[in-house]
This record gives sequence, C-alpha cells and structure tokens, in this order.
Amino acid sequence: MELRSLGARGPQISALSLGSTKFGRREGVKYPNDFTLPSDGQLSDLLALAKDNGINLVDTAPSYGTSEARIGGLIGNDDHWHIATKVGEEFVDGRSHFDFSPTAIRASVERSRQHLRRDILDIVLLHLSDDEISILEDGRAMAALMELRAQGLIGAVGASTKTVAAGLLAVAQIDPGDLVMVTLNPGDQSQLPVIDVARASDKGILIKKPLDSGHHGNIGAALGSLVLEPGVTSVVMGTINKGHLAQNCFAVQQALAAG
Ligand SMILES: NC(=O)c1ccc[n+]([C@@H]2O[C@H](COP(=O)([O-])OP(=O)(O)OC[C@H]3O[C@@H](n4cnc5c(N)ncnc54)[C@H](OP(=O)(O)O)[C@@H]3O)[C@@H](O)[C@H]2O)c1
Repeated sequence: MELRSLGARGPQISALSLGSTKFGRREGVKYPNDFTLPSDGQLSDLLALAKDNGINLVDTAPSYGTSEARIGGLIGNDDHWHIATKVGEEFVDGRSHFDFSPTAIRASVERSRQHLRRDILDIVLLHLSDDEISILEDGRAMAALMELRAQGLIGAVGASTKTVAAGLLAVAQIDPGDLVMVTLNPGDQSQLPVIDVARASDKGILIKKPLDSGHHGNIGAALGSLVLEPGVTSVVMGTINKGHLAQNCFAVQQALAAG
C-alpha cells in the first residue's frame, strides 16, 4: 500500500486506512443495515488482514462506544499502527454530548491515552459539532490541542469538520503536518476547496464517509478515485467485514498501480 508523508518530516501514512465506528457502536449510526459488533477474534483477524495489506492507520473516537478500548487492547502496543482519535464528543445514553472546553479536552486526551494504551497519541482531531465555526473562531479548543502537542502528548492535531467554511478555517489554524478530516465521496464533492488549500500549505487530509457510510454502490471505483485525489493523505474506509476489506484493498491497489 502506498505510504504518504504527513508534512515534510511527519509519519508515513497508508493511502487507505481503517475507520472504526462499527468496532464499538451500533446505536445512532447511519449505516444502511443493522449489524452486530465484531467479536475480539473477528476484530483481531480484521486488523491483521489490514496490516498484511499495508494499512497502518486506524481512525477512532471516544464517541465510538468501545472502539478506542478495543483498539488499544488489540494493537495499542504495535508500533506498525498509527492511531487517530478525537476530542469534544462523547456518546452517552443514546445521544451525543459535546464539550470543547480546554479542561474537557485535556481529560479526554488522558482517557484516550489509557484506552489506546499509548503514551503519545499520533493524531487528535476536534470532533466538531454543528456550531463548528464558533468553536474554531473561539480558538481555545484548538489551542488546547496544540498545547498538548507542544508537551509531547500528541503527534499531530486538527479537526474533523462538516462545512467548507469550517474546513478552510481549520486548515488556516493548523500547522504544516497537522490535518483536517472532511467528507468526500462520489455523491459529495463539496469539500474539494478545503483539500486544495490543505495541499497548497502542506497540511494533511483524511477522508471520512468515502462510501457515504455504505449508501454508495460502486465501491471499488469510489475508493480508487478518492485515493488518487491530489491532496488526500488517507481515505478512512469503515468496515468490519474481512471480505469487504480485501476487496477494498484490491481496488485501491489497482487504482494506485494504474495511477
Ligand atoms: N465526524 C467524524 O469525524 C466522522 C464521521 C463519520 C465517519 N468518520 C470516520 O470515517 C470512517 C468511515 O466512515 P463511515 O464508517 O461512516 O462510512 P464509509 O466508510 O463510507 O462506509 C462504511 C460502510 O460501507 C460498508 N462497506 C465497506 N466496504 C464495503 C464493500 N466492499 N462492500 C459492501 N459494503 C462495504 C461497510 O459495511 P461492512 O462493515 O459490512 O463492510 C459500512 O457499513 C468511520 O468509521 C470513522 O472512523 C468520522
């Protein structure tokens, strides 16, 4: 799997990576079909297959139920893996709760370090809510992440945004080698301006919902075009199915080889 540098001296991240919402949460998600959470054995096999295919980034969040803790237990001590997590959103009693205060962000990073069994978190993003512009304009949440980065507890910081305006604002606030996570799939190309600006300023881009959370049909073609999009560091694809993972890796390898 092609590796891409995050910033001039940053880590090498695989062009396709693994999203983990379905590792730990079934409630309040927008996938087309209900599913059962994978067993530890199934998750271990899935992560081993991803590693065999050269995937080296898994994306998680405190709001993905048991996802962080399960990832920590299975691969926290494996330095093959880079782990991206988030702050600001928790999912409790069937609904999301948001807190972007510096105190909450520091506590969340501490919990993530414990769940993921990592002293240093590779990537931590603001898990932005609908009032993302005011959170970014306020500046204290991003500053809290940057302070934790300066203390050596985080490798790269950034934000997972919803709108183009918030994506552009986040790109302007972060440093080269940091990242923004945006939605991009065949049915939603609206975030391309954010990707262009990030690319021009040596900032990374993670793609979320590349298959429109499973609502998109032509999966191989979608993933193939997304990994080839200039400025995209890694396409974070969600799956808990080993067969789908193998198909998706094959489609991406073919697209990368064809260039
Ligand atoms: N606000 C945020 O920061 C945010 C929001 C959304 C997502 N994310 C991150 O981005 C990741 C990806 O987004 P996503 O999980 O919403 O959606 P996605 O990657 O667009 O789609 C995942 C869905 O596609 C299905 N799928 C995958 N490969 C398939 C194949 N070959 N054939 C048939 N179905 C296939 C999966 O089902 P199977 O499990 O059956 O394969 C799953 O239901 C998340 O897991 C999460 O890490 C972040």
